Amino acid sequence: MTRRAILKGTGSALPRTRVSNDELAKRVDTSDEWIVERTGIRFRHIAEPDETTGTLGADAAREALKAAGLDAADIGLIIVATATPDNTFPATATKIQAMLGAPDCIAFDVAAVCSGFLYALSVADSMLRTGAANHALVIGSETFSRILDWEDRATCVLFGDGAGAVVLSAEEVGDDRGILATRLHAEGQYCDMLYVDGGPSTTGTVGHVRMQGREVFRHAVTNLASVLGEVMADVGLPADAIDWIVPHQANKRIIDATAKKLGLPAERVVLTVDQHANTSAASVPLALDLAVRDGRIKRGDLVVLEAMGGGFTWGAAVLRV
Ligand SMILES: CC(C)(COP(=O)(O)OP(=O)(O)OC[C@H]1O[C@@H](n2cnc3c(N)ncnc32)[C@H](O)[C@@H]1OP(=O)(O)O)[C@@H](O)C(=O)NCCC(=O)NCCS
Repeated sequence: MTRRAILKGTGSALPRTRVSNDELAKRVDTSDEWIVERTGIRFRHIAEPDETTGTLGADAAREALKAAGLDAADIGLIIVATATPDNTFPATATKIQAMLGAPDCIAFDVAAVCSGFLYALSVADSMLRTGAANHALVIGSETFSRILDWEDRATCVLFGDGAGAVVLSAEEVGDDRGILATRLHAEGQYCDMLYVDGGPSTTGTVGHVRMQGREVFRHAVTNLASVLGEVMADVGLPADAIDWIVPHQANKRIIDATAKKLGLPAERVVLTVDQHANTSAASVPLALDLAVRDGRIKRGDLVVLEAMGGGFTWGAAVLRV
């Protein structure tokens, strides 16, 4: 028996307002046809002023706690993956801790943009296995609408707001349960391919998302296929053993190309990009929650999570649910 991090519950939260491609086309020079053909995106949710990364993250966390049958008081570790924190500091994780009424515990944020949830999951997995906590909340929450340049049609159509959360618990289990492998990567030489042109230490402003779309696309397919190969080699299983792949939801063409490289049929891929667009660190836990709640992902399934984002950063995880 080994101490491992087990997935005990999932949750998610979306802003009240849903915006279609046609509605966006009234604001910028674009069309439903262009957006669907290039990205697969049809809708995104956009936060109202009273909805923040913190409130959305707390709502998702409450759902995950309920699904896990745990109280906020049981949680010893809260990690929030976000690139759009409520404030420069304190960490949004501490704000969510306060909103949940969770007593003294470890709480901090992780900044790895769209790969943030994979980074946070990997850190939580290590901390649970080494005994820093027994129960952890890992949250991906974003309000990218607040850092989009709404005049730039090449980026503003791609993103949306939302949050997803998981509860992980440390348990003594056999070798085929819980988080089985994680792999993380970063190549900072590409940091100007996808970035925000502001920040507290440079411009003193929040800034806007800037992206070289074609370059990001090219690196995403290569890096994701390669890291998926690494995690499957770590667990000693062929790609065919994967029951469900829950990819970062940036672009349906990237998701299709990656699945094809692995030889995985589309039926095993959880797809939400059409409904949510790219919610950055929230996209993987949001999609995971959807597929758990609608009964697709069941106990015993081998699930693979993957993401790639600004930095570049990328990573993958394999878990037996
Ligand atoms: C952004 C993306 C969809 C653009 O698709 P593309 O085929 O590379 O398109 P290009 O950027 O070459 O632009 C092609 C044309 O469409 C135009 N265009 C860009 N955005 C548009 C929009 N929203 N509506 C209509 N036309 C648009 C461009 O101006 C360009 O016109 P031009 O040929 O007259 O100059 C694509 O590059 C992509 O998905 N990249 C990855 C982005 C991503 O997932 N980022 C997040 C990763 S975490």
